[in-house]
Amino acid sequence: MYPYQITSEEQYTNDYRNSVENPEKFWADIAQYFSWKKTWDKVLSADFEKAEVKWFAGAKLNITENCLDRHIEKLASQPAIIWEPNDPNEHYRVLTYKELLFKVKQFANVLKNNGVKKGDRVCIYMGMIPELAIAVLACARIGAIHSVIFGGFSARSIADRLQDADARFIVTCDGAFRGAKDIPLKAIIDDALESCPFVQRVIVCTRTHTPVSMIKGRDVWWEDEIKIVETQGNPDCIAEVMDAEDVLFILYTSGSTGKPKGVVHSVAGYMVWTNYTFVNVFQYTPGQIYFCTADIGWITGHSYLLYGPLSAGATTMMFEGIPTFPDAGRFWDITQKHKVDILYTAPTAIRSLMAYGTSYLEGKDLSSLKVLGTVGEPINEEAWYWYYENVGKSKCPIVDTWWQTETGGIMISNLAGVTPHKPTYATLPMPGVLPCLVDETGNELADNGVSGNLCIKQAWPGMIRTTYGDHERCRQTYFSTYKNMYFTGDGCLRDKDGNYRITGRVDDVLNVSGHRIGTAEVENAINMHQGVVESAVVGFPHDIKGQGIYAFVIFNGMHVDEEHTRKDVIQTVSRIIGAIAKPDKIQFVSGLPKTRSGKIMRRILRKIAEGELNNLGDTTTLLDPGIVEEIKSGRL
Ligand code: WT7
Repeated sequence: MYPYQITSEEQYTNDYRNSVENPEKFWADIAQYFSWKKTWDKVLSADFEKAEVKWFAGAKLNITENCLDRHIEKLASQPAIIWEPNDPNEHYRVLTYKELLFKVKQFANVLKNNGVKKGDRVCIYMGMIPELAIAVLACARIGAIHSVIFGGFSARSIADRLQDADARFIVTCDGAFRGAKDIPLKAIIDDALESCPFVQRVIVCTRTHTPVSMIKGRDVWWEDEIKIVETQGNPDCIAEVMDAEDVLFILYTSGSTGKPKGVVHSVAGYMVWTNYTFVNVFQYTPGQIYFCTADIGWITGHSYLLYGPLSAGATTMMFEGIPTFPDAGRFWDITQKHKVDILYTAPTAIRSLMAYGTSYLEGKDLSSLKVLGTVGEPINEEAWYWYYENVGKSKCPIVDTWWQTETGGIMISNLAGVTPHKPTYATLPMPGVLPCLVDETGNELADNGVSGNLCIKQAWPGMIRTTYGDHERCRQTYFSTYKNMYFTGDGCLRDKDGNYRITGRVDDVLNVSGHRIGTAEVENAINMHQGVVESAVVGFPHDIKGQGIYAFVIFNGMHVDEEHTRKDVIQTVSRIIGAIAKPDKIQFVSGLPKTRSGKIMRRILRKIAEGELNNLGDTTTLLDPGIVEEIKSGRL
């Protein structure tokens, strides 16, 4: 039990009320249970007009002392991380709290030896191996800012991010195992660095033994650097004293326009928020095995594989592979083998496993499971019941957790076994979260039983602080649409009892298999192909991915044949962004529906992509209404 754990519906109601009526007192009471080098001067100061928010200003701390050192006395030999490899025949690894702390200090010293200092940006591009967790925590130990890039992004995407953050240090692997694939991470980094001459050091951890080229003076092996630290003798690494509002990390995420932005989170608020939400949403009990299937390259991995669980002294599972390798029973094998208590995954994973049928669940002992969770996208009713009945055996509450990269942690969710679940609903706000629904003109919709755009009216500790290098972009994107509110970009329904149901993005952002992709980004990538004149990208409902990517492309080049051109365009997108952004459908068109002022009418394209051909709305303002008929008849 944690002192701030909510154990009944009444307590939830009470705590919720206190948290919104007197947030400073509420969060100060919780924050006292963390380890500080100096406590705060002021709990909260917020100015949404300027997008300026500070939590625990004046306080000093280091998040790794909260995640590691402070647990050593009681939990030294408890597993902190249990790592399950891609190949089930390889042995799993266990890192106790003591071992993890030792390795984090050791690698922190490697970083220091290589010239990394407080405030420096370190890009981490690795597969899901324990060294990834170690690298992240080692950065936090010395106050370096980590920027983890998911292994599915291309060299070009990496280069954009390195340049944006002016990151001079990289930690990577020779390669990564993912299912039957072997991703040549170091080779991709080498490509990225062609356009990033400012990078001083690349530290390469061995995993796949893929041949790599090591550039003299720039590239070093992780293992060699560890040996150097060992010969230096002093295994300690004193935690850097950080200000509460110092930057902890940057994580890039897509928006409706332009290039991905670097979402910035700061140390103290993020720590308190991820810990508090982890403990309460999952109702974690010390000793339990908690399995979050997300990759650390996404915010879910940051908040609920690493920082939340570790700061709570939990045992967190880390899985290198994919749900369908070697077969679609892998999650259940892992659950049985490690007696997983809590499983947190994405609707897209559930739907893909559901498509394989229940035979992969047969004979698997899932009796250790107590709580199930979902994150990243709306869950459809069918997938919800499949998860509830077949995985949870109708005994485990499901927490449907709504949040975003920008929110740092869970914002709307039921609390497992404490507040009721409701299929397809995220249900109720976490203490500290004041959601509201607004209509297009910004009027608040105060009643229950309404739909609108979801905003948050009050600052919470885990919220975004800025977008790296461009604060104005942060203000514009999140705080300027509606006055004095944070705008989420999501549409939402509130039922008669006040439960929230997220219906999906209302901006030009797609959610493909729980991954966030901007339509503008995909269009820019498609337009890089030399034969492409123009393109428009929209989402369409996809049985497994939630949303698929539908591209309408005006092509002026030479077709060998259409199928071939399609593959070329897909290859281009893979090169520019990464495989996760590949269009599912590409329709070649001779024109796009545009207004007289030249704006593409995406509403029409969206309807066509969704198959709603007879309900396209007003098309009379189009420059060339005839084009709509052509597009309709060529629909894929
Ligand atoms: C977007 C944020 C949250 C971590 C992973 C994704 C959608 C997220 C839910 C949910 C319905 C959800 C929203 C949100 N989303 N959770 N439980 N139900 N939709 O983080 O990449 O920043 O994406 O994911 O549309 O805005 P992200």
